[in-house]
Amino acid sequence: MKRLDCIVKSDMKELLLDEKTIKNRVEELGKSITEYYENEDAELVVVGILRGSSLFFADLIRNINLPILIDFMAISSYGSSSESGVVKIVKDLEADVTGKNILIVEDIIDTGKTLKYLFNYFKERGAKTVKVSSMLDKPERRLVEISGDFIGFEVPNDFIVGYGLDYNQSYRNLPYIISLKEEVYK
Ligand code: IMP
Ligand code: MG
Repeated sequence: MKRLDCIVKSDMKELLLDEKTIKNRVEELGKSITEYYENEDAELVVVGILRGSSLFFADLIRNINLPILIDFMAISSYGSSSESGVVKIVKDLEADVTGKNILIVEDIIDTGKTLKYLFNYFKERGAKTVKVSSMLDKPERRLVEISGDFIGFEVPNDFIVGYGLDYNQSYRNLPYIISLKEEVYK
């Protein structure tokens, strides 16, 4: 098969965030999260949303200087979640969230519909607080009023891949973040 860096050379529109930039920002986010929760007594459960947040999740939790629990959820959207806002839980949470502080870790906030759903999901299950850390934010596309609490970077309204984000399950293992040329995904 073709090497990934060759594929990137032909498919990339723009290099948005390189490895060093990502690493520095993730360290800052970890610090902010640590400072935010350090005076809290309730347990902190950091919930990664599979599969897009996997790389960000692994790097972020290593920069949170507090005892935490981790858990994962997998969500799939019916058709395009952007249009319908209907999501399906493919893998449910295992932790009991009652009375706990929940930090949702996402790859990107796009329309905001997935996050809104998750926010209500945790609130209904009795979480004490629900906050969101997302590596990327695409505010131009927002359809529901929701904002993250610990955001890595704002990105333009392009199709973005790498560092966990995919197009048709590809590009997730790129250590940097790029936008794709339109002809690749249209
Ligand atoms: P939302 O419900 O529209 O906010 O959808 C968020 C989800 O859509 C993210 O968790 C991603 O999995 C996916 N997504 C949105 N924009 C992009 C993108 O530019 N590249 C890759 N995945 C994206
Ligand atoms: Mg996702």
